Amino acid sequence: MIINRLIVKNWRNFQQINVPLRERQFIVGPNASGKSNLLDIFRFLRDIAKAEGGGLQKAISDRGGVFKIRCLSARQDPEVAIEIHIADTPDAPATWRYGIGFHHEDHGHRQTYLTHERVWRDGELLLDRPDADDNKDPDRLTQTALEQIATNAKFREIAEFLRKVSYLHLVPQLIRFADSIQGKIIEDDPFGQGFLERVASVHPSTRRARLKRIERALKIAVPQFEELVFIRDKRTGYPHLQARYSHWHLNEEWQREDQFSDGMLRLIGLLWALLESDSLVLLEEPELSLNIGIVSQLAPLFARIRRIHRCQVFVSTHSSTLLTEPGIDGTEVLLLTPAKEGTSVKVSSDIEDIRILLKNRFTVGEVVLSRTRPKDTAGVSLIQ
Ligand SMILES: Nc1ncnc2c1ncn2[C@@H]1O[C@H](COP(=O)(O)OP(=O)(O)OP(=O)(O)O)[C@@H](O)[C@H]1O
Ligand SMILES: [Mg+2]
Repeated sequence: MIINRLIVKNWRNFQQINVPLRERQFIVGPNASGKSNLLDIFRFLRDIAKAEGGGLQKAISDRGGVFKIRCLSARQDPEVAIEIHIADTPDAPATWRYGIGFHHEDHGHRQTYLTHERVWRDGELLLDRPDADDNKDPDRLTQTALEQIATNAKFREIAEFLRKVSYLHLVPQLIRFADSIQGKIIEDDPFGQGFLERVASVHPSTRRARLKRIERALKIAVPQFEELVFIRDKRTGYPHLQARYSHWHLNEEWQREDQFSDGMLRLIGLLWALLESDSLVLLEEPELSLNIGIVSQLAPLFARIRRIHRCQVFVSTHSSTLLTEPGIDGTEVLLLTPAKEGTSVKVSSDIEDIRILLKNRFTVGEVVLSRTRPKDTAGVSLIQ
């Protein structure tokens, strides 16, 4: 299953979004245009659907309240709304549609209330709130039906799909020094602090198979790299990854993850996240720290992994190298353009001049990213 349409009202710096989505979707735009905010919509839905410690109220308070989420240029309209369509393929009619709207009380505790919650299956409306029970007891509108086992029986498939959404914005230092920092791990571990524990928690045969695939990729990316294995420190009990390189004199010498390079750690984390998912994977700027030769291989890699695992991948990026692959279709790139009334989100091939250039065999990287560059940077220093 994949999410093949997103419709949004008043979410952060977007007043309106209504776009189709592909299995591999790149999100491009200038700094602060809302790429991370857009990815956060899917994390928000996941947080609502979570079986434990989730739900609407927590998802909102983790983001600082409706006040922070609601678009500042929303004017009089107090409602924030999100709708997703879920289907087997990008072009298929939606099997499921799930939509919610919410606002907060004008005064008092500023509690968040649903303005609506609707679910359709194959076009048939299965849930339409507020319903008679909500009207009798308005406090019911502080919770979605999606988050409650007692009320989501007819559409639990949506909750299960959303719960598996994963988000990755790896910070190599946090993986490298996980033992010594031992700080609070942010929920769902977006920065990879608990990455090694995650590797440790899967069945040994699955782990071996995944690490073998990652090892093959590393052999291409990292000169003289030979082998990657998982171990548990006998003394401390902490999990570790170890690598061996061919050029060392002592062939039995191993390096632990605290000595891996940033790029190597990010590549390992990225590949692991893709191999472990069968839902939606959200990747923030996967190009960071990677050599351009490897960055140019990422788009075909996403396509290949998606074919094997049936997962969907959304990627925010600033990299034209990542988008130079000729196989990337204009429909696979969403272009974010900031404006006074909020950022607009468009499928790049719906923009006339981009479509013409793409037809003339320019790559998406060449055509689309030139439009995200800040104006007037030629000959201007950032520090005057
Ligand atoms: N409620 C809101 N209303 C309007 N704008 C908002 C709201 N919340 C956040 N923003 C704006 O969203 C912008 C940040 O967006 P975001 O972090 O998604 O950008 P980005 O495209 O990921 O940038 P980068 O490329 O630097 O990572 C900021 O300019 C911030 O002011
Ligand atoms: Mg960002």
